[in-house]
Amino acid sequence: MAITRDLFHDPVLVTEIVAFLVRKPGIYVDGTLGGGGHSLAILRALFDRGFFEGSLLIGIDQDDAALRTAREKLREFDARAVLVKGNFLDIGGIITRVCREKGVEPKVAGILLDLGVSSFQIDTAERGFSYMREGPLDMRMDMNAAISACDIVNTYEEKQLAQLFYRYGEEPRSRSIARAIVAYRQSNGAVNSTQELADIIRGNAHGGERVIKTLSRVFQALRIEVNAELDVLSRALDDGIDCLDEYGRMAVISYHSLEDRIVKRVFAEKSRSDWGPKGVGLREPLAWGSVTPITRKPMIASPEEIASNSRARSAKLRVIEKIYQGGSCGRP
Ligand SMILES: C[S@@+](CC[C@H](N)C(=O)[O-])C[C@H]1O[C@@H](n2cnc3c(N)ncnc32)[C@H](O)[C@@H]1O
Repeated sequence: MAITRDLFHDPVLVTEIVAFLVRKPGIYVDGTLGGGGHSLAILRALFDRGFFEGSLLIGIDQDDAALRTAREKLREFDARAVLVKGNFLDIGGIITRVCREKGVEPKVAGILLDLGVSSFQIDTAERGFSYMREGPLDMRMDMNAAISACDIVNTYEEKQLAQLFYRYGEEPRSRSIARAIVAYRQSNGAVNSTQELADIIRGNAHGGERVIKTLSRVFQALRIEVNAELDVLSRALDDGIDCLDEYGRMAVISYHSLEDRIVKRVFAEKSRSDWGPKGVGLREPLAWGSVTPITRKPMIASPEEIASNSRARSAKLRVIEKIYQGGSCGRP
């Protein structure tokens, strides 16, 4: 498939996602709809392969701007796509609700999670995600969410800020940056804009390339905290796997090691059978692993894709397949 440019967000590893996921008619869930790039490719593949009848794509995003763009992009496939505003934390509930409304069983053939933020979110100054753009310190993917980056930067104690930058940004200078933020608050009242925060960080980072790394790490840490990105991930993976039909697949693209570690751990746990305490010598496990890995190592983008889409540089794709029908879709 040719790599095409998308101004909202250029989706990564599209060919691979379609090849891994689209193998039969069924329910497909894009838990991170964004501008709808991956969803469009999935719907086109379903159509081209004669799987369109009997298929349904459920697209989920917590950002209204993403939903508006995706709705427009997927218009020709309206009849087979249901787009929902929500958090993929509630993936099981959303799948059960949509399937009930459509009168189909909630047995899912494929789930995609393309984690993190879209280029559109990063590039829109008013959303406050980027240290390169002057804007309010916001960083909420869901604009109705209660807590913004501004609240965190201006209300967390120095120790909490340092822990946050260390934990979610793996930032070695976390303590001195936290100290500088609190000192700035004391003399200026509050940190309100991305540029104010970026200047405080610049004043506390080593020079050259390392400043950029520090800026990226601190902004990443704040974004993860504002959107509870890591807290929701393992539960969404668990619940998504419960919704997969036998031989259904889940594909997850992550962009930094904190996300990838969670994906790797959950996939490994779910593929392991439970043989009880050591030395018992059971003939059969107490519980079989419910998935099998399809990618032994994470798949990365080709040099050609990286050359045309810099976001693809850090992308890691892991895919599992459901082999054992355990768990039920949607928490009670
Ligand atoms: C990397 S972009 C996805 C881009 C998309 N694959 C495309 O082709 O355009 C991630 C999207 O997921 C959304 N998102 C991130 N975490 C989410 C969550 N917990 N629940 C719902 N949406 C989420 C973001 O708002 C963003 O639009």
